[in-house]
Amino acid sequence: MSVEPLRKLEDNMNQDISTSATSGMDKMRVVGGVKLNGDIKISGAKNAALKHMCASLLTDEPFILKNMPVTLRDVATLSQVLEALGVQINLDKENSVATLHAKKITSHIAPYELVRKMRASILVLGPLLARQHIAHVSLPGGCALGARPVDLHLKGFEAMGATIELEDGYVKATAPDGGLKGADITFPLVSVGATENLMMAATLANGETILRNAAREPEIVDQGEALIKMGAKIEGLGTSEIHIQGVQKLSGTMHSVIPDRIETGTYMCAVGLCGGELHLKNTRLDFLSALISPLKEAGMFIEQNGDDIIVRRNGAKIKGVDIMTEAYPGLATDLQAQFMTMLTLCDGAGMISETIFENRFMHVPELIRMGANITVKGNSAIIRGVEKLKGAEVMATDLRASVALVLAGLVAEGETIINRIYHLDRGYENIVDKLTAVGAQIERIK
Ligand code: UD1
Repeated sequence: MSVEPLRKLEDNMNQDISTSATSGMDKMRVVGGVKLNGDIKISGAKNAALKHMCASLLTDEPFILKNMPVTLRDVATLSQVLEALGVQINLDKENSVATLHAKKITSHIAPYELVRKMRASILVLGPLLARQHIAHVSLPGGCALGARPVDLHLKGFEAMGATIELEDGYVKATAPDGGLKGADITFPLVSVGATENLMMAATLANGETILRNAAREPEIVDQGEALIKMGAKIEGLGTSEIHIQGVQKLSGTMHSVIPDRIETGTYMCAVGLCGGELHLKNTRLDFLSALISPLKEAGMFIEQNGDDIIVRRNGAKIKGVDIMTEAYPGLATDLQAQFMTMLTLCDGAGMISETIFENRFMHVPELIRMGANITVKGNSAIIRGVEKLKGAEVMATDLRASVALVLAGLVAEGETIINRIYHLDRGYENIVDKLTAVGAQIERIK
């Protein structure tokens, strides 16, 4: 079978998502002009948490996750997908603990109504195929970031012996008799999701799987470490070559999710923009090397202090710097919109090149409406510093673009109303409370 028709299908589905996302009625009101001072506790990483949740399908024993961002909408959405498959889930909001128990998988179908809300749902495919030998998963939705195919995932499963058909917008996958077979897979480009999906599937496959040109994100290492605690045999985590020796069975475990480096970086950019000093609690600087260098070059003070990061900008404007997004350990595309917002008030100019996703400059027209001076050419943007941003009514598009507009509102003169903040709730825990506690004037309105 060929996975080429996927690109077209996914384009259509992404349009569907962007339309449905626009129907959210909640708005955010921000009054700009205050410096940020105080403490913000960083949540567990969304992009690790979601993968751990999918990995719960690999075992019939309970999987307990601590430091879970349980109040995120993406966690709720994925919980619905997993519950539809038979997983029992308890989300303890007070203690940030999730317990997932896939004692018996009662369905192998992840339906469109649920999957369309979140692209990461495709990550149930690998675990289902590995344990149940069959999976029907609707093609995913998620942020409207141009074409986001899943061909690498599917080609990988085919290499492991699976038969894949595309029917009515669903990926219908069947493992060969006796289950998936280990395979030597070289990815033509680095994909976080494909690396994770295949790594999970390979834990229960027959024989050895080698993933070459694998992604190296900290969230993948975190997932691999949890799988190892469950009994998986994995070597090479954090490198571009991962070896997985399949085992018969995995057990339950308890695991603490790593801190969210994107949330951390977002609040760092907020300080760069607004000035002040934040103590970001319970997070790690070593995940953010590619962000720290340009932030320091721009004139910011950043230091790890035990489990906290101190980030400060007093006085002088930040200087214009150039950045390029890349796969980890390069600068995360998920921080690009926030970095750009910070540069709108820089001294001089900065250039941003986006190399991971097409269509990821959707925040630019909104920032321009607030007074920013930005020129986009292809996958690059030049940001010339202006004296000030002015509050305006703006529209949130994808998750990171939404938070970029919140940051812009924090520094803009007057009032900013951000419409369609649905995406923000997918990925930022308690953002209103966290920012209010450090001096921001921000509220959610209907
Ligand atoms: C993950 C993150 C997302 C982040 C992205 C890149 C989660 C839930 N999401 O998304 O926040 O922005 O990594 O760091 O963890 N590609 C293909 N074919 C495929 C798969 C990917 O062509 O089968 C392309 C994509 O279109 C994109 C690039 O590869 O251009 C990287 O995508 P990928 O790393 O797979 O991103 P996600 O795992 O979807």
